[in-house]
Amino acid sequence: METTPPSAGRVNRNQTFKIVIITCVNTSTPEITSLDHHEYNNKLFKSLLPIYDYVELILIFIRPYLFKNISLPSHSSVIDIACGTGFMTSLFAQKGYIVTAVDLSPEMLNKAKDKLKKFTNITYYLGSASQLPFKDDEFDASSISFALHDMPYEMGADVLREMIRTTKSGGKIYIIDYNTSLPTFEMKIGHLLCSIWESIYYKDFLKRGIDAYLVDPSLKLVKSNKFLFSNVAYLEYVKT
Ligand SMILES: C[S@@+](CC[C@H](N)C(=O)[O-])C[C@H]1O[C@@H](n2cnc3c(N)ncnc32)[C@H](O)[C@@H]1O
Repeated sequence: METTPPSAGRVNRNQTFKIVIITCVNTSTPEITSLDHHEYNNKLFKSLLPIYDYVELILIFIRPYLFKNISLPSHSSVIDIACGTGFMTSLFAQKGYIVTAVDLSPEMLNKAKDKLKKFTNITYYLGSASQLPFKDDEFDASSISFALHDMPYEMGADVLREMIRTTKSGGKIYIIDYNTSLPTFEMKIGHLLCSIWESIYYKDFLKRGIDAYLVDPSLKLVKSNKFLFSNVAYLEYVKT
């Protein structure tokens, strides 16, 4: 399935400034509907787009680990949820898997398409991952990287449910995000630094912790790891 997102418009500096200010000063749990989220999210990532891949450079340290550890049978189908500019999508595509990349932001999805145009094994879908147009058990694996903290908790829980629904029994579910376990000194510094650019949901995500999303009894943790002074968690589940 392929959608054609509208072409990117000019970045509105005023909006960018407002988003950065809201993000930096916000300390409370945001009350936000899914419609508000679409608007907020798309403005935020439109404004971050020019610098997004520089921020993502820190992730190159975990890439070799992911490349080695993510190992599926050849030609497996994988859905990369909230693919952004394609960090995980490219990894799956390089491994020869049949990839479906989903994102809510047309600008982020367009950037991924542009960066990954040499791959013929990726299909793109523009829309919210909280309601996916795919069948139950359609994919061999699913992944979400650095996105649960970028949406309201209820939406994140819906996204997880959709990932579980569309992944086959016995399939892998990969989750990469900020580590929310009891913070060490280095993690507290990390949280402080990240709150400079992170979305309005970030603090709520840290407060609730990743375990708040992982309540489905069909999920079995098979591998986990921590990176960047324990600031980043890698969680690998099997849907039983
Ligand atoms: C920080 S980026 C992460 C991108 C990429 N996965 C990575 O690791 O670099 C978060 C992404 O989540 C997307 N997003 C937020 N809410 C979403 C939703 N409900 N459905 C799909 N994508 C969503 C945003 O548009 C954005 O591209």
